Amino acid sequence: SEATREGFEHYMLKEIYEQPESIRNAMRGRLDEENATAVFGGLNLTPQQSRMVERIILTGCGTSWHSGLVGEYLIEDLARIPVSVEYASELRYRNPPIENNTLVFGITQSGETADTLAALRETKRKGHRTLAICNVVGSSIAQAADGGVYLYAGPEIGVASTKAFTSQCCVLAMLGLYFGRLRHLSFERGKQIIEELRQLPNAIQQTLGCNEQVRDVAQKYQNASTVLYLGRQFNFPTALEGALKLKEISYIHAEGYPAAEMKHGPIALVDKETPSVFIIPRGTTYTKVMANMEEVKARGGPVIALANEDDPQVQAVADDVIHVPQVPEFLQPIVNVVPLQLLAYHIALLRGCDVDKPRNLAKSVTVE
Ligand code: G6P
Repeated sequence: SEATREGFEHYMLKEIYEQPESIRNAMRGRLDEENATAVFGGLNLTPQQSRMVERIILTGCGTSWHSGLVGEYLIEDLARIPVSVEYASELRYRNPPIENNTLVFGITQSGETADTLAALRETKRKGHRTLAICNVVGSSIAQAADGGVYLYAGPEIGVASTKAFTSQCCVLAMLGLYFGRLRHLSFERGKQIIEELRQLPNAIQQTLGCNEQVRDVAQKYQNASTVLYLGRQFNFPTALEGALKLKEISYIHAEGYPAAEMKHGPIALVDKETPSVFIIPRGTTYTKVMANMEEVKARGGPVIALANEDDPQVQAVADDVIHVPQVPEFLQPIVNVVPLQLLAYHIALLRGCDVDKPRNLAKSVTVE
């Protein structure tokens, strides 16, 4: 069906707001309570074949490569299968040795990205099973792959990807559950993961409540010329994605970095004109990220923190705090990316940029 803006000023904003629904659509019919696992109609893998998988390669471009990075944390954590993430443009020419029983997933919104298609064809030629995690039904990559999982996110028109990213992460979480349940993951843990996934659309809905707060933050920092995005573990790819969103639509230079690596370079950029966005929800690396945040503060850099509500410790250090609901760590990227999408949106809008059609970029890149 034809997409319309339905009262939203831009497709991007509409697509950001659709995320509770698009996530619901990604999960529809795929959570199997009885067996405490996920089910996929189109994987074309028997349980026995799935159990034999010894390595997974996730490949894609741009935002889809970022969801691959989230997938690496997710699948290794839930299924204990080693994962590597490859830029499709590099994988296609690199000719790496790939072990038997490796699955190659091409992650793509459009299903038409030339490099991703070529990377899948190349790995398929060498005898590996290729699968697609794709939004557009019947697209070239969906057809070229041996099977796959559709996102069912509906048409994404804004050039900067938003809802496709969160749906890709959600599908990767369900794949982690599926492969995990064929291995070590207990029935109880499987049930718990299903319950946590079911709560996700509500958590995203709640997160969207930060819009006004984010707009105020955008107002304050709209004239920055560089912004750093910092997070650890599951929130490291989220930092990369937040930085990419800002670059793409506001043309402000931004860098995403693992928060602890910052001291090996990017911290040299910190001054009172260079804000840092810290993703610091409660979780295993909370105190570590706090220390990194204090280092930036001590060097006079403005700090914007993405944190859980009622966090006086963060409040005491950060100049501005954006609240996100607390969710299990493996689902944090899906929630935490939402304020970062909104931040890029509002800054771009304030700077008079063409949010839905940024300069020099295309929705799908069908050339190398
Ligand atoms: C282009 C788009 C990005 C997208 C990337 C990969 O660069 O502007 O938003 O992430 O292509 O696209 P795909 O359709 O393969 O996910």
